[in-house]
Amino acid sequence: MRVITIFTILLFCFKISPGQQNSNYAYSVQKEIVSEKGAVVSAHTLASKAGLKMLEMGGNAVDAAIATQLALAVVYPGAGNIGGGGFMVAHLANGKNISLDYREKAPATASRDMYLDKNGDPQMDRSQYGHLAAGVPGTIAGLFASLKYAKLSFKKLIEPAIDLAENGFVISENQAASFNNARENFIKYNTSTPAFVKSNPWKAGDTLIQKDLAGTLKRIRDLGKKGFYQGKTAELIVAEMAKGGGIISLADLKNYEAKWRPVIDFSYKKNYRIITMPLPSSGGIILQQMLKMIEYRNIGAMKFQSPESVNLMTEVERRAFADRANFLGDPDFVHVPVKTLTDETYLKQRMLDFVPGKAGSSDSTKAGPIPESTETTHLSVIDSQGNMVSVTTTLNGSYGSKTVVSGGGFLLNNEMDDFSVKPGVPNMYGAVGNEKNAIAPDKRMLSSMTPTIVLKNDKPFLVAGTPGGTTIPTSVFQTIVNIIDFDMTPSDAVNKPKFHHQWLPDQVTLEKGFDENTKQALVAMGYKVNTISQIGRVEVILVKQKNNHKIFTSVADHRGDDDAQGF
Ligand code: GLY
Repeated sequence: MRVITIFTILLFCFKISPGQQNSNYAYSVQKEIVSEKGAVVSAHTLASKAGLKMLEMGGNAVDAAIATQLALAVVYPGAGNIGGGGFMVAHLANGKNISLDYREKAPATASRDMYLDKNGDPQMDRSQYGHLAAGVPGTIAGLFASLKYAKLSFKKLIEPAIDLAENGFVISENQAASFNNARENFIKYNTSTPAFVKSNPWKAGDTLIQKDLAGTLKRIRDLGKKGFYQGKTAELIVAEMAKGGGIISLADLKNYEAKWRPVIDFSYKKNYRIITMPLPSSGGIILQQMLKMIEYRNIGAMKFQSPESVNLMTEVERRAFADRANFLGDPDFVHVPVKTLTDETYLKQRMLDFVPGKAGSSDSTKAGPIPESTETTHLSVIDSQGNMVSVTTTLNGSYGSKTVVSGGGFLLNNEMDDFSVKPGVPNMYGAVGNEKNAIAPDKRMLSSMTPTIVLKNDKPFLVAGTPGGTTIPTSVFQTIVNIIDFDMTPSDAVNKPKFHHQWLPDQVTLEKGFDENTKQALVAMGYKVNTISQIGRVEVILVKQKNNHKIFTSVADHRGDDDAQGF
Protein backbone atom coordinates (compact mmCIF):
# COMPACT_ATOMS: atom_id res chain seq x y z
CA MET A 1 0.00 0.00 0.00
CA ARG A 2 1.32 3.35 -1.02
CA VAL A 3 0.61 6.63 0.67
CA ILE A 4 2.26 9.80 -0.55
CA THR A 5 1.83 12.97 1.39
CA ILE A 6 2.27 15.73 -1.10
CA PHE A 7 1.77 18.88 0.86
CA THR A 8 1.66 19.37 4.59
CA ILE A 9 1.44 22.74 6.30
CA LEU A 10 2.54 22.89 9.91
CA LEU A 11 0.04 25.47 11.06
CA PHE A 12 0.46 24.57 14.68
CA CYS A 13 2.13 21.74 16.46
CA PHE A 14 2.35 22.03 20.21
CA LYS A 15 4.54 19.35 21.61
CA ILE A 16 3.46 18.35 25.11
CA SER A 17 5.73 15.33 25.06
CA PRO A 18 7.13 13.23 22.22
CA GLY A 19 4.54 10.53 23.00
CA GLN A 20 1.73 12.98 22.30
CA GLN A 21 2.79 13.84 18.76
CA ASN A 22 -0.28 13.84 16.55
CA SER A 23 -2.58 13.63 19.54
CA ASN A 24 -5.29 16.16 20.36
CA TYR A 25 -2.48 18.35 21.67
CA ALA A 26 0.04 18.10 18.88
CA TYR A 27 -1.12 17.88 15.32
CA SER A 28 -0.38 19.46 11.99
CA VAL A 29 -2.60 20.41 9.09
CA GLN A 30 -2.23 18.38 5.91
CA LYS A 31 -3.57 19.93 2.71
CA GLU A 32 -3.20 17.12 0.20
CA ILE A 33 -2.68 13.38 0.26
CA VAL A 34 -2.63 10.58 -2.29
CA SER A 35 -3.85 7.26 -0.91
CA GLU A 36 -5.40 3.98 -2.00
CA LYS A 37 -7.55 2.60 0.82
CA GLY A 38 -9.58 5.55 1.93
CA ALA A 39 -9.64 9.30 2.54
CA VAL A 40 -11.42 11.96 4.57
CA VAL A 41 -11.30 15.71 3.96
CA SER A 42 -12.91 18.13 6.41
CA ALA A 43 -12.59 21.53 8.06
CA HIS A 44 -10.36 20.27 10.89
CA THR A 45 -7.43 17.86 11.23
CA LEU A 46 -8.81 16.15 14.33
CA ALA A 47 -12.17 15.57 12.63
CA SER A 48 -10.54 14.16 9.48
CA LYS A 49 -8.45 11.91 11.73
CA ALA A 50 -11.56 10.72 13.60
CA GLY A 51 -13.04 9.65 10.26
CA LEU A 52 -9.81 8.06 9.11
CA LYS A 53 -9.65 6.03 12.32
CA MET A 54 -13.03 4.48 11.48
CA LEU A 55 -11.81 3.52 8.00
CA GLU A 56 -8.67 1.98 9.49
CA MET A 57 -10.83 0.00 11.94
CA GLY A 58 -12.76 -1.56 9.04
CA GLY A 59 -15.59 0.95 8.85
CA ASN A 60 -16.85 2.27 5.53
CA ALA A 61 -17.24 5.81 4.19
CA VAL A 62 -20.57 6.27 5.99
CA ASP A 63 -18.94 5.30 9.32
CA ALA A 64 -16.17 7.80 8.64
CA ALA A 65 -18.64 10.54 7.71
CA ILE A 66 -20.61 10.05 10.94
CA ALA A 67 -17.48 10.10 13.14
CA THR A 68 -16.14 13.16 11.29
CA GLN A 69 -19.38 15.09 11.75
CA LEU A 70 -19.49 14.28 15.47
CA ALA A 71 -15.87 15.35 15.88
CA LEU A 72 -16.51 18.57 13.94
CA ALA A 73 -19.27 19.40 16.44
CA VAL A 74 -16.50 19.51 19.05
CA VAL A 75 -13.42 20.87 17.28
CA TYR A 76 -15.11 23.22 14.80
CA PRO A 77 -17.95 24.81 16.77
CA GLY A 78 -18.44 27.70 14.32
CA ALA A 79 -20.22 25.36 11.92
CA GLY A 80 -19.74 21.72 12.97
CA ASN A 81 -22.74 20.90 15.09
CA ILE A 82 -25.29 18.77 16.80
CA GLY A 83 -27.61 21.77 17.14
CA GLY A 84 -27.94 22.44 13.41
CA GLY A 85 -28.67 20.38 10.31
CA GLY A 86 -27.31 19.21 6.99
CA PHE A 87 -27.50 17.03 3.92
CA MET A 88 -25.72 13.83 2.88
CA VAL A 89 -25.30 12.54 -0.67
CA ALA A 90 -23.69 9.12 -1.13
CA HIS A 91 -22.79 6.76 -3.95
CA LEU A 92 -22.64 3.26 -2.51
CA ALA A 93 -20.35 0.52 -3.75
CA ASN A 94 -23.41 -1.42 -4.95
CA GLY A 95 -24.19 1.42 -7.35
CA LYS A 96 -27.05 2.93 -5.34
CA ASN A 97 -27.18 6.71 -4.95
CA ILE A 98 -28.84 8.11 -1.83
CA SER A 99 -29.52 11.50 -0.29
CA LEU A 100 -30.55 12.30 3.25
CA ASP A 101 -32.20 15.54 4.35
CA TYR A 102 -31.62 16.46 7.99
CA ARG A 103 -32.29 20.12 7.51
CA GLU A 104 -33.71 21.98 10.50
CA LYS A 105 -37.43 22.75 10.42
CA ALA A 106 -39.59 25.52 11.82
CA PRO A 107 -41.09 24.78 15.24
CA ALA A 108 -44.80 23.88 15.24
CA THR A 109 -45.76 27.28 16.67
CA ALA A 110 -43.72 29.23 14.11
CA SER A 111 -45.72 31.51 11.85
CA ARG A 112 -45.26 33.43 8.64
CA ASP A 113 -44.96 36.87 10.26
CA MET A 114 -43.22 35.89 13.49
CA TYR A 115 -40.29 38.23 12.86
CA LEU A 116 -42.42 41.28 11.91
CA ASP A 117 -43.31 44.05 14.33
CA LYS A 118 -46.80 45.52 14.61
CA ASN A 119 -46.14 47.78 11.62
CA GLY A 120 -45.17 44.79 9.52
CA ASP A 121 -41.49 45.73 9.57
CA PRO A 122 -39.00 42.87 9.81
CA GLN A 123 -36.97 42.58 13.01
CA MET A 124 -34.04 40.77 11.53
CA ASP A 125 -32.03 40.56 14.74
CA ARG A 126 -34.66 38.12 16.05
CA SER A 127 -34.30 35.73 13.10
CA GLN A 128 -30.52 35.93 13.33
CA TYR A 129 -29.54 35.93 16.98
CA GLY A 130 -30.58 34.16 20.12
CA HIS A 131 -33.24 31.64 21.00
CA LEU A 132 -36.00 32.54 18.55
CA ALA A 133 -33.63 32.23 15.57
CA ALA A 134 -33.24 28.47 16.09
CA GLY A 135 -34.96 25.86 13.98
CA VAL A 136 -35.51 22.32 15.30
CA PRO A 137 -32.08 20.65 14.94
CA GLY A 138 -31.74 17.77 12.49
CA THR A 139 -28.13 16.60 12.74
CA ILE A 140 -28.48 13.78 15.28
CA ALA A 141 -31.56 12.38 13.49
CA GLY A 142 -29.52 12.46 10.29
CA LEU A 143 -26.60 10.60 11.80
CA PHE A 144 -28.86 7.86 13.15
CA ALA A 145 -30.72 7.57 9.83
CA SER A 146 -27.43 7.21 7.93
CA LEU A 147 -26.29 4.54 10.42
CA LYS A 148 -28.24 1.95 8.43
CA TYR A 149 -25.47 2.10 5.79
CA ALA A 150 -22.63 2.01 8.34
CA LYS A 151 -20.72 -1.02 9.63
CA LEU A 152 -19.46 0.01 13.06
CA SER A 153 -21.48 0.61 16.21
CA PHE A 154 -22.52 4.17 17.05
CA LYS A 155 -20.61 3.80 20.31
CA LYS A 156 -17.39 3.46 18.31
CA LEU A 157 -18.26 6.32 15.98
CA ILE A 158 -18.89 8.80 18.76
CA GLU A 159 -15.82 7.86 20.83
CA PRO A 160 -13.39 10.38 19.27
CA ALA A 161 -15.89 13.22 19.72
CA ILE A 162 -16.42 12.37 23.39
CA ASP A 163 -12.67 12.20 23.94
CA LEU A 164 -12.13 15.58 22.24
CA ALA A 165 -14.90 17.23 24.26
CA GLU A 166 -13.97 15.68 27.60
CA ASN A 167 -10.18 15.86 27.46
CA GLY A 168 -9.91 18.87 25.20
CA PHE A 169 -7.71 19.73 22.26
CA VAL A 170 -5.46 22.63 21.36
CA ILE A 171 -6.91 25.33 19.16
CA SER A 172 -5.34 27.00 16.13
CA GLU A 173 -4.65 30.67 15.59
CA ASN A 174 -7.72 30.92 13.33
CA GLN A 175 -9.94 29.34 15.98
CA ALA A 176 -8.54 31.60 18.71
CA ALA A 177 -9.23 34.70 16.60
CA SER A 178 -12.71 33.45 15.80
CA PHE A 179 -13.58 32.92 19.51
CA ASN A 180 -12.19 36.35 20.37
CA ASN A 181 -14.28 37.99 17.62
CA ALA A 182 -17.44 36.23 18.77
CA ARG A 183 -16.87 36.88 22.51
CA GLU A 184 -19.28 39.82 22.81
CA ASN A 185 -22.10 37.92 21.13
CA PHE A 186 -21.49 34.80 23.26
CA ILE A 187 -21.92 36.96 26.35
CA LYS A 188 -24.94 38.80 24.96
CA TYR A 189 -26.92 35.75 23.84
CA ASN A 190 -26.24 33.39 26.74
CA THR A 191 -27.44 33.31 30.32
CA SER A 192 -24.56 31.09 31.47
CA THR A 193 -20.98 31.38 30.27
CA PRO A 194 -20.21 29.00 27.39
CA ALA A 195 -16.92 27.10 27.17
CA PHE A 196 -15.98 29.43 24.30
CA VAL A 197 -15.64 32.43 26.63
CA LYS A 198 -12.71 32.92 29.00
CA SER A 199 -11.38 35.91 30.86
CA ASN A 200 -8.25 36.43 28.74
CA PRO A 201 -8.22 36.42 24.94
CA TRP A 202 -7.77 32.99 23.35
CA LYS A 203 -4.47 32.27 21.64
CA ALA A 204 -3.15 29.46 19.46
CA GLY A 205 -2.17 26.51 21.62
CA ASP A 206 -4.84 27.05 24.30
CA THR A 207 -6.83 23.95 25.21
CA LEU A 208 -10.62 23.90 24.76
CA ILE A 209 -12.44 21.50 27.08
CA GLN A 210 -16.24 21.09 26.75
CA LYS A 211 -17.53 19.01 29.68
CA ASP A 212 -21.24 19.79 29.13
CA LEU A 213 -20.94 18.82 25.48
CA ALA A 214 -19.20 15.59 26.50
CA GLY A 215 -22.17 14.86 28.78
CA THR A 216 -24.62 15.39 25.89
CA LEU A 217 -22.56 13.18 23.58
CA LYS A 218 -22.52 10.44 26.23
CA ARG A 219 -26.31 10.59 26.53
CA ILE A 220 -26.52 10.20 22.74
CA ARG A 221 -24.03 7.31 22.91
CA ASP A 222 -26.05 5.57 25.64
CA LEU A 223 -29.62 6.34 24.55
CA GLY A 224 -29.29 6.80 20.80
CA LYS A 225 -31.43 9.40 19.05
CA LYS A 226 -33.54 9.70 22.22
CA GLY A 227 -30.41 10.91 24.02
CA PHE A 228 -30.85 14.15 22.07
CA TYR A 229 -34.53 14.43 21.13
CA GLN A 230 -36.01 13.22 24.42
CA GLY A 231 -35.10 13.12 28.10
CA LYS A 232 -32.46 15.34 29.64
CA THR A 233 -31.02 16.92 26.48
CA ALA A 234 -34.46 17.81 25.13
CA GLU A 235 -35.41 19.24 28.52
CA LEU A 236 -32.24 21.34 28.54
CA ILE A 237 -33.08 22.70 25.08
CA VAL A 238 -36.63 23.58 26.10
CA ALA A 239 -35.42 25.15 29.37
CA GLU A 240 -32.98 27.23 27.33
CA MET A 241 -35.83 28.32 25.04
CA ALA A 242 -37.75 29.61 28.04
CA LYS A 243 -34.80 31.82 29.01
CA GLY A 244 -34.78 33.74 25.73
CA GLY A 245 -38.22 33.63 24.13
CA GLY A 246 -37.48 30.61 21.93
CA ILE A 247 -40.32 28.34 20.77
CA ILE A 248 -38.81 24.87 20.23
CA SER A 249 -40.94 22.46 22.30
CA LEU A 250 -40.47 18.91 23.56
CA ALA A 251 -42.98 17.79 20.91
CA ASP A 252 -40.98 19.54 18.14
CA LEU A 253 -37.89 17.62 19.20
CA LYS A 254 -39.62 14.27 19.60
CA ASN A 255 -41.31 14.61 16.21
CA TYR A 256 -38.23 15.59 14.21
CA GLU A 257 -37.36 13.15 11.44
CA ALA A 258 -34.64 13.05 8.81
CA LYS A 259 -35.95 12.30 5.31
CA TRP A 260 -34.50 10.18 2.51
CA ARG A 261 -34.98 12.03 -0.78
CA PRO A 262 -34.43 10.85 -4.36
CA VAL A 263 -31.08 12.26 -5.51
CA ILE A 264 -30.69 14.68 -8.40
CA ASP A 265 -28.86 12.60 -11.02
CA PHE A 266 -27.98 14.02 -14.45
CA SER A 267 -25.39 13.59 -17.17
CA TYR A 268 -22.71 16.14 -18.00
CA LYS A 269 -20.73 15.94 -21.22
CA LYS A 270 -20.37 12.43 -22.57
CA ASN A 271 -18.93 10.50 -19.70
CA TYR A 272 -19.98 12.15 -16.46
CA ARG A 273 -22.92 11.77 -14.11
CA ILE A 274 -23.55 14.31 -11.36
CA ILE A 275 -25.26 13.05 -8.19
CA THR A 276 -26.35 15.89 -5.94
CA MET A 277 -28.81 17.16 -3.31
CA PRO A 278 -32.46 17.87 -4.13
CA LEU A 279 -34.83 20.26 -2.33
CA PRO A 280 -35.08 21.59 0.33
CA SER A 281 -31.59 22.54 -0.78
CA SER A 282 -31.58 24.70 -3.87
CA GLY A 283 -27.97 23.67 -4.48
CA GLY A 284 -28.51 20.60 -6.67
CA ILE A 285 -31.09 22.25 -8.92
CA ILE A 286 -28.89 25.33 -9.37
CA LEU A 287 -25.87 23.14 -10.13
CA GLN A 288 -27.84 21.18 -12.73
CA GLN A 289 -29.13 24.36 -14.36
CA MET A 290 -25.67 25.92 -14.54
CA LEU A 291 -23.90 22.84 -15.92
CA LYS A 292 -26.64 22.21 -18.46
CA MET A 293 -26.57 25.84 -19.61
CA ILE A 294 -22.86 25.58 -20.47
CA GLU A 295 -22.78 21.95 -21.61
CA TYR A 296 -22.99 22.66 -25.35
CA ARG A 297 -20.71 25.67 -25.43
CA ASN A 298 -17.17 24.22 -25.45
CA ILE A 299 -16.12 26.13 -22.39
CA GLY A 300 -12.88 24.12 -22.25
CA ALA A 301 -11.62 25.97 -25.34
CA MET A 302 -12.30 29.32 -23.68
CA LYS A 303 -9.75 28.51 -20.92
CA PHE A 304 -9.85 28.99 -17.15
CA GLN A 305 -10.84 32.47 -16.02
CA SER A 306 -10.59 34.03 -19.46
CA PRO A 307 -13.02 36.94 -19.99
CA GLU A 308 -15.06 34.64 -22.28
CA SER A 309 -15.45 31.78 -19.78
CA VAL A 310 -16.15 34.08 -16.82
CA ASN A 311 -18.72 36.02 -18.88
CA LEU A 312 -20.52 32.78 -19.80
CA MET A 313 -20.38 31.27 -16.29
CA THR A 314 -21.51 34.54 -14.71
CA GLU A 315 -24.54 34.69 -16.97
CA VAL A 316 -25.61 31.13 -16.18
CA GLU A 317 -25.13 31.83 -12.47
CA ARG A 318 -27.35 34.93 -12.80
CA ARG A 319 -30.15 32.94 -14.46
CA ALA A 320 -30.02 29.98 -12.05
CA PHE A 321 -30.21 32.28 -9.03
CA ALA A 322 -33.10 34.21 -10.49
CA ASP A 323 -35.01 30.92 -10.64
CA ARG A 324 -33.96 30.01 -7.11
CA ALA A 325 -35.57 33.07 -5.62
CA ASN A 326 -38.75 32.78 -7.62
CA PHE A 327 -39.55 29.09 -7.58
CA LEU A 328 -37.81 27.18 -4.79
CA GLY A 329 -38.98 26.19 -1.31
CA ASP A 330 -39.66 23.09 0.80
CA PRO A 331 -41.29 20.61 -1.63
CA ASP A 332 -43.34 19.10 1.21
CA PHE A 333 -45.13 22.46 1.48
CA VAL A 334 -45.05 24.21 -1.88
CA HIS A 335 -45.19 23.11 -5.49
CA VAL A 336 -41.81 23.49 -7.20
CA PRO A 337 -41.66 22.90 -10.99
CA VAL A 338 -38.37 20.98 -10.76
CA LYS A 339 -38.91 19.13 -14.04
CA THR A 340 -39.37 22.34 -15.99
CA LEU A 341 -36.53 24.16 -14.24
CA THR A 342 -34.09 21.41 -15.16
CA ASP A 343 -35.48 20.69 -18.63
CA GLU A 344 -32.82 21.09 -21.33
CA THR A 345 -35.12 22.96 -23.71
CA TYR A 346 -36.08 25.39 -20.95
CA LEU A 347 -32.44 25.94 -20.05
CA LYS A 348 -31.49 26.56 -23.68
CA GLN A 349 -34.28 29.12 -23.85
CA ARG A 350 -32.93 30.80 -20.71
CA MET A 351 -29.71 31.47 -22.61
CA LEU A 352 -31.28 32.87 -25.78
CA ASP A 353 -30.69 36.44 -24.61
CA PHE A 354 -27.06 35.80 -23.67
CA VAL A 355 -24.79 38.05 -25.74
CA PRO A 356 -21.14 36.92 -25.49
CA GLY A 357 -18.86 39.76 -24.44
CA LYS A 358 -21.64 41.75 -22.83
CA ALA A 359 -22.90 41.92 -19.25
CA GLY A 360 -26.51 40.83 -18.87
CA SER A 361 -28.93 42.70 -16.67
CA SER A 362 -30.75 41.43 -13.59
CA ASP A 363 -33.55 43.94 -14.28
CA SER A 364 -34.48 41.99 -17.37
CA THR A 365 -33.79 38.57 -15.82
CA LYS A 366 -36.83 37.80 -13.71
CA ALA A 367 -36.79 36.80 -10.02
CA GLY A 368 -34.08 37.12 -7.36
CA PRO A 369 -31.23 35.34 -5.57
CA ILE A 370 -30.34 34.87 -1.95
CA PRO A 371 -26.97 35.58 -0.30
CA GLU A 372 -26.47 33.67 2.93
CA SER A 373 -23.92 33.02 5.59
CA THR A 374 -20.56 31.60 4.69
CA GLU A 375 -20.41 29.56 7.90
CA THR A 376 -21.23 26.02 6.99
CA THR A 377 -18.91 23.05 6.68
CA HIS A 378 -18.34 20.25 4.20
CA LEU A 379 -16.68 16.84 4.37
CA SER A 380 -15.83 14.36 1.63
CA VAL A 381 -15.09 10.67 2.25
CA ILE A 382 -14.21 7.59 0.19
CA ASP A 383 -13.35 4.03 1.15
CA SER A 384 -11.61 1.10 -0.52
CA GLN A 385 -14.94 -0.43 -1.65
CA GLY A 386 -15.79 2.72 -3.63
CA ASN A 387 -18.42 4.08 -1.23
CA MET A 388 -18.36 7.87 -1.56
CA VAL A 389 -19.98 10.25 0.91
CA SER A 390 -20.46 13.99 0.53
CA VAL A 391 -21.90 15.87 3.53
CA THR A 392 -22.56 19.57 4.05
CA THR A 393 -23.84 20.68 7.42
CA THR A 394 -24.48 24.04 9.07
CA LEU A 395 -25.56 26.23 11.96
CA ASN A 396 -26.18 28.97 9.34
CA GLY A 397 -24.25 31.98 10.72
CA SER A 398 -20.89 31.60 12.42
CA TYR A 399 -21.75 29.91 15.75
CA GLY A 400 -25.41 29.94 14.64
CA SER A 401 -27.69 31.81 17.02
CA LYS A 402 -24.64 32.28 19.37
CA THR A 403 -26.80 30.65 22.05
CA VAL A 404 -25.39 27.59 23.78
CA VAL A 405 -27.85 25.24 25.52
CA SER A 406 -27.00 25.66 29.22
CA GLY A 407 -25.89 22.34 30.64
CA GLY A 408 -25.90 20.79 27.14
CA GLY A 409 -22.81 22.61 25.87
CA PHE A 410 -23.84 22.87 22.20
CA LEU A 411 -24.76 25.82 20.01
CA LEU A 412 -28.19 26.23 18.47
CA ASN A 413 -28.53 27.19 14.83
CA ASN A 414 -30.02 30.44 13.49
CA GLU A 415 -31.44 28.67 10.47
CA MET A 416 -34.84 30.42 10.70
CA ASP A 417 -33.12 33.29 8.88
CA ASP A 418 -32.85 31.09 5.79
CA PHE A 419 -36.62 31.47 5.41
CA SER A 420 -37.90 34.62 3.76
CA VAL A 421 -38.77 36.43 6.96
CA LYS A 422 -40.93 38.73 4.87
CA PRO A 423 -41.26 37.81 1.21
CA GLY A 424 -39.25 40.26 -0.87
CA VAL A 425 -37.32 41.66 2.12
CA PRO A 426 -33.61 40.79 2.27
CA ASN A 427 -32.44 38.75 5.24
CA MET A 428 -29.21 39.31 7.16
CA TYR A 429 -27.07 38.55 4.13
CA GLY A 430 -29.21 40.53 1.70
CA ALA A 431 -31.26 37.47 0.75
CA VAL A 432 -34.66 37.86 -0.84
CA GLY A 433 -37.24 35.18 -1.51
CA ASN A 434 -40.98 34.91 -1.95
CA GLU A 435 -43.98 33.00 -0.58
CA LYS A 436 -42.45 29.67 -1.60
CA ASN A 437 -39.89 30.10 1.16
CA ALA A 438 -42.16 31.83 3.70
CA ILE A 439 -42.23 30.48 7.27
CA ALA A 440 -44.80 27.80 8.13
CA PRO A 441 -44.96 25.34 11.04
CA ASP A 442 -42.74 22.28 10.49
CA LYS A 443 -41.51 23.59 7.11
CA ARG A 444 -37.83 23.32 6.12
CA MET A 445 -36.07 26.55 5.12
CA LEU A 446 -34.44 26.68 1.69
CA SER A 447 -30.72 25.93 1.62
CA SER A 448 -27.88 26.37 -0.85
CA MET A 449 -25.81 23.41 0.36
CA THR A 450 -24.59 21.26 -2.54
CA PRO A 451 -22.92 18.03 -1.42
CA THR A 452 -22.03 16.41 -4.74
CA ILE A 453 -20.57 13.26 -6.26
CA VAL A 454 -19.41 12.85 -9.86
CA LEU A 455 -19.16 9.49 -11.62
CA LYS A 456 -17.13 8.98 -14.78
CA ASN A 457 -18.34 6.13 -16.97
CA ASP A 458 -20.47 5.21 -13.94
CA LYS A 459 -17.36 4.73 -11.76
CA PRO A 460 -16.27 6.91 -8.77
CA PHE A 461 -14.61 10.11 -10.00
CA LEU A 462 -15.09 13.03 -7.60
CA VAL A 463 -16.50 13.88 -4.16
CA ALA A 464 -16.94 17.63 -3.67
CA GLY A 465 -18.66 20.31 -1.64
CA THR A 466 -18.07 23.52 0.25
CA PRO A 467 -19.50 25.99 2.77
CA GLY A 468 -20.25 29.52 1.59
CA GLY A 469 -23.99 30.30 1.61
CA THR A 470 -25.15 31.23 -1.87
CA THR A 471 -21.60 30.86 -3.15
CA ILE A 472 -21.87 27.10 -2.48
CA PRO A 473 -23.52 26.05 -5.78
CA THR A 474 -21.33 28.41 -7.81
CA SER A 475 -18.14 27.16 -6.10
CA VAL A 476 -19.11 23.51 -6.70
CA PHE A 477 -20.01 24.42 -10.31
CA GLN A 478 -16.61 26.08 -10.85
CA THR A 479 -14.74 23.21 -9.20
CA ILE A 480 -16.41 20.65 -11.49
CA VAL A 481 -15.78 22.78 -14.59
CA ASN A 482 -12.17 23.38 -13.50
CA ILE A 483 -11.55 19.65 -13.29
CA ILE A 484 -13.61 18.35 -16.23
CA ASP A 485 -13.42 21.19 -18.76
CA PHE A 486 -10.22 23.03 -17.83
CA ASP A 487 -8.34 19.84 -16.97
CA MET A 488 -6.92 21.37 -13.79
CA THR A 489 -5.29 19.48 -10.93
CA PRO A 490 -7.60 19.05 -7.95
CA SER A 491 -5.39 21.42 -5.96
CA ASP A 492 -5.66 24.22 -8.54
CA ALA A 493 -9.35 23.51 -9.03
CA VAL A 494 -9.92 24.05 -5.31
CA ASN A 495 -7.45 26.79 -4.52
CA LYS A 496 -7.47 29.18 -7.51
CA PRO A 497 -9.61 32.29 -6.94
CA LYS A 498 -13.34 31.97 -7.57
CA PHE A 499 -16.07 34.37 -8.61
CA HIS A 500 -19.79 34.58 -7.96
CA HIS A 501 -22.96 36.09 -9.37
CA GLN A 502 -26.36 35.59 -7.78
CA TRP A 503 -28.69 37.82 -9.82
CA LEU A 504 -29.12 40.39 -7.07
CA PRO A 505 -27.22 42.45 -6.27
CA ASP A 506 -26.35 42.74 -9.96
CA GLN A 507 -22.59 42.43 -9.55
CA VAL A 508 -19.83 39.87 -9.99
CA THR A 509 -18.04 39.13 -6.75
CA LEU A 510 -14.39 38.22 -7.32
CA GLU A 511 -12.13 36.51 -4.85
CA LYS A 512 -8.84 38.19 -3.89
CA GLY A 513 -6.15 37.16 -6.39
CA PHE A 514 -8.57 36.95 -9.35
CA ASP A 515 -6.85 37.70 -12.67
CA GLU A 516 -6.56 41.48 -13.07
CA ASN A 517 -6.82 41.48 -16.89
CA THR A 518 -10.00 39.44 -16.78
CA LYS A 519 -11.37 41.77 -14.13
CA GLN A 520 -10.75 44.78 -16.40
CA ALA A 521 -12.33 42.92 -19.34
CA LEU A 522 -15.44 42.25 -17.23
CA VAL A 523 -15.70 45.94 -16.35
CA ALA A 524 -15.39 46.79 -20.06
CA MET A 525 -18.26 44.37 -20.79
CA GLY A 526 -20.44 46.36 -18.41
CA TYR A 527 -20.20 44.31 -15.21
CA LYS A 528 -20.10 45.91 -11.80
CA VAL A 529 -17.40 44.00 -9.88
CA ASN A 530 -16.45 43.84 -6.23
CA THR A 531 -13.69 41.85 -4.55
CA ILE A 532 -13.88 39.91 -1.29
CA SER A 533 -11.20 38.06 0.62
CA GLN A 534 -12.58 34.53 0.35
CA ILE A 535 -15.08 32.43 -1.56
CA GLY A 536 -15.74 28.88 -0.38
CA ARG A 537 -13.69 26.17 1.30
CA VAL A 538 -13.93 23.24 -1.08
CA GLU A 539 -12.97 19.70 0.00
CA VAL A 540 -12.45 17.26 -2.86
CA ILE A 541 -11.40 13.69 -3.45
CA LEU A 542 -10.51 12.84 -7.06
CA VAL A 543 -10.40 9.17 -8.06
CA LYS A 544 -8.14 7.85 -10.82
CA GLN A 545 -8.08 4.24 -11.97
CA LYS A 546 -4.53 2.91 -12.37
CA ASN A 547 -3.64 -0.69 -13.23
CA ASN A 548 -6.91 -2.00 -11.86
CA HIS A 549 -6.78 -0.11 -8.60
CA LYS A 550 -8.05 3.25 -7.50
CA ILE A 551 -5.89 6.19 -6.45
CA PHE A 552 -7.46 8.93 -4.37
CA THR A 553 -6.08 12.47 -4.49
CA SER A 554 -7.62 14.36 -1.59
CA VAL A 555 -7.35 18.13 -1.30
CA ALA A 556 -8.37 20.33 1.61
CA ASP A 557 -8.98 23.97 0.75
CA HIS A 558 -6.07 26.24 1.64
CA ARG A 559 -8.46 28.96 2.78
CA GLY A 560 -8.79 27.59 6.35
CA ASP A 561 -7.42 24.94 8.72
CA ASP A 562 -9.05 22.29 6.49
CA ASP A 563 -7.28 18.96 6.39
CA ALA A 564 -7.00 15.86 4.20
CA GLN A 565 -6.23 12.42 5.64
CA GLY A 566 -5.82 9.12 3.82
CA PHE A 567 -4.31 5.68 4.10
N1 GLY B 1 -27.47 28.17 5.97
C1 GLY B 1 -26.83 28.04 4.74
C2 GLY B 1 -27.54 27.14 3.78
O1 GLY B 1 -28.27 26.26 4.20
O2 GLY B 1 -27.41 27.28 2.60
